[in-house]
Amino acid sequence: MANMAFDLLIPHLQRASGKTVWIADENLLNTRLSANPAVTVIVNRFDLFKVLKQQDWNAHFSDFDFSEIADSSIDTLIYRVSKEKPVVHHVINQARRVLKPGGQLLIAGDKGEGIKTYIDKAKKLFAGACQAQKASKDTWLAELTCPDGASSTPLDDKNYTSLRPEAQDEHFEYWSKPGVYGWNKIDKGSAYLMEHLDAFLMTMPEPPQQVLDLGCGYGYLSLNASHLDIPITATDNNAAAIAACERNFDRYPIDGKVVIADCAEGISGKFDLILCNPPFHAGFDVEGDLTDRFLQAAHDRLSYAGVACFVTNLHIPLERKARQLFHQVEVIASNSNFKLTRLTHRM
Ligand SMILES: C[S@@+](CC[C@H](N)C(=O)[O-])C[C@H]1O[C@@H](n2cnc3c(N)ncnc32)[C@H](O)[C@@H]1O
Repeated sequence: MANMAFDLLIPHLQRASGKTVWIADENLLNTRLSANPAVTVIVNRFDLFKVLKQQDWNAHFSDFDFSEIADSSIDTLIYRVSKEKPVVHHVINQARRVLKPGGQLLIAGDKGEGIKTYIDKAKKLFAGACQAQKASKDTWLAELTCPDGASSTPLDDKNYTSLRPEAQDEHFEYWSKPGVYGWNKIDKGSAYLMEHLDAFLMTMPEPPQQVLDLGCGYGYLSLNASHLDIPITATDNNAAAIAACERNFDRYPIDGKVVIADCAEGISGKFDLILCNPPFHAGFDVEGDLTDRFLQAAHDRLSYAGVACFVTNLHIPLERKARQLFHQVEVIASNSNFKLTRLTHRM
């Protein structure tokens, strides 16, 4: 899918010569960019981190952690805005701190993502030194120059760096933070899946011995499967999700581990219960391919007698895709928004 906003930044990334930081939070998995040694990349997606490393970029995987970067030490910061407002505010605030006087923040994005508002807010924080250019009907690029002296009030980043209680139900208090998928709520699809967990378990010949929570976020599914009293492996691609899920595992405590991985890649062994609420958005792109990759991961990690339980929006063609990989594919429940699909290798 075309990413015109990012395309506007490519020439800047390729010709940057001073100390430059690129904040990478978009779907660039199929983009080939020659590495520029002047640029340090901070990336919060493990799949993209791996691709950038393969392309020889000086890439660091973290939840957009700027704590190692000294004040007023960077010449240029390049950023195609993220989907979530607190993430964008966090990056703009940090840019104001780490850029040298005269250093530049380059931001690009689309109108529908709020880029014009972000440019206006950054302009205030950077005390007005801004050149904004409308590249097309919908896409903007702005170059903001960092002034001398102290910064004004930072943008509201919802306390980006701190993990804290953000959602709760009668069973658990879920710790989370901005940057995690659905960070301050319980996902309705996931809650629907857990309401029907027993219906999935009833179809198993034996009680499960090992759970895999595929795309765990802050760990909602894992926590709600912990009454089964069996080890749980939770895995995600996103740095913030891993930090939040680890915290929730520690707090209760949950018997198991939290593993950073792209679609469970590198996780070995078989699981007889797989719980999954797969993503269908990656950055700004809708990725059908991601559903296929989650199904493939479930296929590879599911034991012969096991059950994979997927919750998806009604419109996702999960059954059609899953039939190519599993012997049995059955929608066991649905409501006006979601369907629950049971996948097994068993005949
Ligand atoms: C719809 S959310 C579900 C989160 C959580 N299980 C819940 O129920 O609240 C999907 C999750 O998949 C993760 N994800 C996206 N791409 C991934 C990938 N390539 N590998 C592993 N996890 C991924 C996202 O970070 C997100 O946490």
